[in-house]
Amino acid sequence: MNNKAIGLFDSGVGGLTVLKALMQILPGENYIYLGDTARLPYGTKGKETIIRYALQCTEKLMENDLKMLVLACNTVSSVALPAIKEKYPHIEIIGVVEPGAEAACNATKNNHIAVLGTQSTIQGKAYDKAILAINPTAKVTGKACPLFVGMAEEGLSQGFIAEEMAKHYLKDILKLSKENKPDTIVLGCTHFPLLKGAIQNVVGNDIQLVDSAQTTAKKVFARLTKTNSLAENKKPFIHFLTTDDVAKFKAVGEPFLGISLDKSHVELVDL
Ligand code: DGL
Repeated sequence: MNNKAIGLFDSGVGGLTVLKALMQILPGENYIYLGDTARLPYGTKGKETIIRYALQCTEKLMENDLKMLVLACNTVSSVALPAIKEKYPHIEIIGVVEPGAEAACNATKNNHIAVLGTQSTIQGKAYDKAILAINPTAKVTGKACPLFVGMAEEGLSQGFIAEEMAKHYLKDILKLSKENKPDTIVLGCTHFPLLKGAIQNVVGNDIQLVDSAQTTAKKVFARLTKTNSLAENKKPFIHFLTTDDVAKFKAVGEPFLGISLDKSHVELVDL
């Protein structure tokens, strides 16, 4: 049981930010990561499509013997978590929205939290619900920032263009008076941590940015500890699966994971 892999998937390489946090806190685990790069972005698509894609990704990963599935995508976690849990009741499934909400609730002092995410994450209000479940008096302001996804995938996550785009998306928040401004922004998309520097430059240091990667990794650690399922492999494996160009997955994925993917085996799969 302990040596079974943890499966993760995202619409693209964004979920590698979650894998990175997992590898730091759980270095002895085996991982299988699927990036559905051929069909990215998910966040602009309709609910039924996102659920269908998410179930196909899950089915692909379930071809392996997994001990846990991590939905390393806020869009999938917001929209498809109940459908995946219903179809796969026997495996533990962890989404990233609740851990992200928890990180935000721990960080805020003035009880006003802004959430940046894809269109479907913001429209579905999954973060609002998760934050209010923890802190019913919190104020939540959501803002869809869909172009951040493509920018992160294109390597345009820093500098002039990224900051201008952040100013564009955050203009309503930036013009609020100090007492009406959120003090915490959740990067509610696994692609957005790459734009953290640009967003922080635009909002200034009075607003803290949080994401769900660390809190998700802590939740996985806690669950595996509780069920006595931790692995301590000396030479753990990480298998990568992608639905589009392998070379592009490696090149685009490296900054998200923070380690070289040059020698990693990345398998091209069809869903
Ligand atoms: N990385 C995904 C998320 O966390 C979204 C990217 C997309 O739109 O496909 O929401």
